[in-house]
Amino acid sequence: MLNIAVFVSGKGSNFRAIQKAILNGFIRNAKIVLVISNNSDAGALDIACEHGIPAVHLSRKQYTTDNEFNNSVLQTLRQHGANFIVLAGYMKKIDSSIIRHYRNRILNIHPALLPAFGGSGMYGMHVHEAVITQKASVSGATVHLVDEEYDRGAIVLQRQIPVAPDDTPESLAANVLQIEHELYPEAIRLFAEGQVKIDGQHVTVLNTP
Ligand code: GRF
Repeated sequence: MLNIAVFVSGKGSNFRAIQKAILNGFIRNAKIVLVISNNSDAGALDIACEHGIPAVHLSRKQYTTDNEFNNSVLQTLRQHGANFIVLAGYMKKIDSSIIRHYRNRILNIHPALLPAFGGSGMYGMHVHEAVITQKASVSGATVHLVDEEYDRGAIVLQRQIPVAPDDTPESLAANVLQIEHELYPEAIRLFAEGQVKIDGQHVTVLNTP
């Protein structure tokens, strides 16, 4: 059983899509047990409330040291029995102390085809602006494992969409987000069903959707 903690910073549309996929039975053997937001205004907190999911505002700013903050995150995860972490629009880097405890059990979604258009500074609209500026003919979404290197963890699933000549960063973002709402639940379903085998940097999906 996946007991998922979802980390969010913003509106939480991916979180909503994942919760929907759990409720409608697309993802079985999984439950969202906790939402952690670094931002007290995140729309995702309202979604958690709507669904009666425990939600906690935890920000580095509430603590004196990195250590205190990271220990508090780990303690909160443990208190809620989380054994899997899903980053859904979480704008902060996950500390290595947390990665160590949840190695190969932390997923992120990135709104481009990694390793292209990833890494430092490549977040939010910057990603789509770069895709348009570089006249890429395709973009898409990537679900990957989170390790100590930003956007470099092993790729679990990717889906591509064409970039139309008249696409703007905004239209591309909207199209990619739609794909994300399908891809993230699919990736989580694969983990919940034990279909993902991980050997170092190598991920094998046994039953590709
Ligand atoms: C998504 O585009 C995701 O790829 C990126 O942040 C955005 C989050 O959107 N990491 P939402 O909060 O899930 O609506």
